[in-house]
Amino acid sequence: MSTNSLFNQIQLQEHKLCNRLAVAPMTRRSATSEGVPTRAMIDYYQAFASGGFSLIITEGIYTDNLFSQTDLNQPGLVNQEQLEGWKKVVAGVHKSNALIIGQLMHGGSLSQCRAKTIAPSAIQPKGLRATEKGGLTGPFPIPKEMSEEDLAEVKKGYVQAALLATKAGFDGVELHSANGYLFDQFLTPHTNLRTDMYGGNTYNRLRFLMEVYTAVKEAVPQKFIVGIRLSESKVNDLTYRWPGGSTTAVEIFTVLKELHADYLHIAAEGGNWARECLYGDGSSSSGLAKKIAGVPVIANGGLHDIQIAESLIESQQADLISIGRAALANPDWPHRIAAGKPLIPFFKELIKPSLTLQHTQRVLEEQKREFSQ
Ligand SMILES: Cc1cc2nc3c(=O)[nH]c(=O)nc-3n(C[C@H](O)[C@H](O)[C@H](O)COP(=O)(O)O)c2cc1C
Repeated sequence: MSTNSLFNQIQLQEHKLCNRLAVAPMTRRSATSEGVPTRAMIDYYQAFASGGFSLIITEGIYTDNLFSQTDLNQPGLVNQEQLEGWKKVVAGVHKSNALIIGQLMHGGSLSQCRAKTIAPSAIQPKGLRATEKGGLTGPFPIPKEMSEEDLAEVKKGYVQAALLATKAGFDGVELHSANGYLFDQFLTPHTNLRTDMYGGNTYNRLRFLMEVYTAVKEAVPQKFIVGIRLSESKVNDLTYRWPGGSTTAVEIFTVLKELHADYLHIAAEGGNWARECLYGDGSSSSGLAKKIAGVPVIANGGLHDIQIAESLIESQQADLISIGRAALANPDWPHRIAAGKPLIPFFKELIKPSLTLQHTQRVLEEQKREFSQ
């Protein structure tokens, strides 16, 4: 067994995790067209848990039937059928004693499948819809500026989805405030031109996220984990960075400190932590989050590079590491590392949901064979 810092235990809220290794949220578009989790998803998530990850953060889950859905075949958490589907996914993960956190997501103006969208301001997003996602194509539409009623509906959706997550047995939820989606559209100055209390300074641009966070936290049992994910880069703008670099990071985490969030997940959507999270003055967004907000921090972005991952934990720039693409290739990444087994290199086709699922099946079968030997 490896003794490196990635395999030390850690306490997250009331839960003891056996290592510092989490699966990053990854949209798989593998639910039914009604957003109900499928058998393939049960196997997909179970493989990470039996493969040694102590924490699994699910793909983004939509939170209401109005404007939240981002992708076709994305799972939701808005009705009984979806709840029943998630119960099976959660039970599969819990068999291996891993924790599972549902990522709650509203796409705002970046929906790949909705003809009409909402956002803080009526600004057309950069870029085009992704043809490979099988939804709509061409430019994103100009979203409708959110009214007070829209804000209330979105908040209600998050609270209800979080309550359904408690019923499904999830250990927590993560509010997706990264990658250019709805909460990130509020935070980003050029997509938020509001002149009410949700626009203007950093506090105002974080206000809606904080209101939703507080409403969710008040609705769920105390031990239910509620985290927040943030990033600088966006799915439709990988080069975007917070305008003032580390100065902006300090401002953001100083505001978020008042939430005492259960954790912050600081992501590098482009998959390169050093390029996306490290500032010229030597500080990093994950390190500043930890120091200033004073809560557990998950770092992400190319951190299957063990040396960087370990150095982040050892230098107090993160408490946990989340792994995305390398976990698609190696759902048993922790066991492989601990046993010194070779890793399967990530290959681009694995992004295709059906191939991920076939690959997961193969790795699971291999695990079973090894277990029975
Ligand atoms: C296929 C795929 C789907 C993704 N879907 C989501 C998602 O639903 N929610 C999210 O916050 N990030 C999503 N991401 C971003 C990952 O969580 C992660 O930030 C990114 O892959 C970089 O980490 P890595 O270098 O370990 O892969 C996705 C990434 C990939 C490759």
